Amino acid sequence: MEVVVTRDEFRKATSAARAAGSRLGLVPTMGAFHEGHMSLLQAAASSCDVVAASIFVNPLQFSSAADLARYPANLELDMAMAQAAGVGLLFAPSVSEMYPRGEPETRVEPGGLADRLEGASRPGHFAGVATVVTKLLSLSGRCGAYFGEKDFQQLAVVRRLVADLDLDVEIVGCPTVREPDGLACSSRNRLLGPDDRRAAGVLFKALGAGRAALVTGARHSAEVEAAMVAVVAAEPRARLDYAVVVDPVTFESPAPLSGGLRLLIAAQVGPVRLIDNLGVET
Ligand code: PAF
Repeated sequence: MEVVVTRDEFRKATSAARAAGSRLGLVPTMGAFHEGHMSLLQAAASSCDVVAASIFVNPLQFSSAADLARYPANLELDMAMAQAAGVGLLFAPSVSEMYPRGEPETRVEPGGLADRLEGASRPGHFAGVATVVTKLLSLSGRCGAYFGEKDFQQLAVVRRLVADLDLDVEIVGCPTVREPDGLACSSRNRLLGPDDRRAAGVLFKALGAGRAALVTGARHSAEVEAAMVAVVAAEPRARLDYAVVVDPVTFESPAPLSGGLRLLIAAQVGPVRLIDNLGVET
């Protein structure tokens, strides 16, 4: 596995791979690898000749300095896991390498899709994501880029930015990987103490209650959302941010509910804000 730390080296290595006729797969990450990352890397390896991964904790997408400071990091372990997953090129730049002129004056501002839910709770978050993803895709050039469905709204924002900016990239969404109790794998899970870790299973239980409401005929968003809210309310360690049922493309709640829908939830559990989602066909 080739490890590079400058934008120039990364651009040259990805160009060389393409010039040699390889199909390139890019997996952008913030490190602290878990099974979810491994599944993205494996998905890329199964359909690309060369897999590139980036590890960069992007300060632009954090709304608080405290959240950024405690974001988990373990580069040595990530490198070993990346190698085991078949990564051929690892890009691990510093903040000053990615943003050599300090905070960039030019940012990619996603539209209305990014204003709701995560965007409303974390102002500036999606502009930070869209800016760094655009930089990474610009450096890597034509590729398949792999993102987890766990960050479902992020995936939608990235798809939209690639379409709006005519980037030569195929975005591939990959299913969420879960712990045995249903908790979605996330780098933030390791910040949960044992009691909060047990309580964190409530997000998946709430999604299950929303799905059950839909499957048994609920067709109004208020009914479905109430079913999810009730589950979270019964867990004293969790504080709900939102629990909604939306159209997976527009992120609006159709009335009445019909077709393919997405349940999305966010809650604070102890010190950690967790998000999750589930697709349901009605
Ligand atoms: O999902 C993530 O890990 C990050 O938001 C991403 C896409 C790597 C951008 O920093």
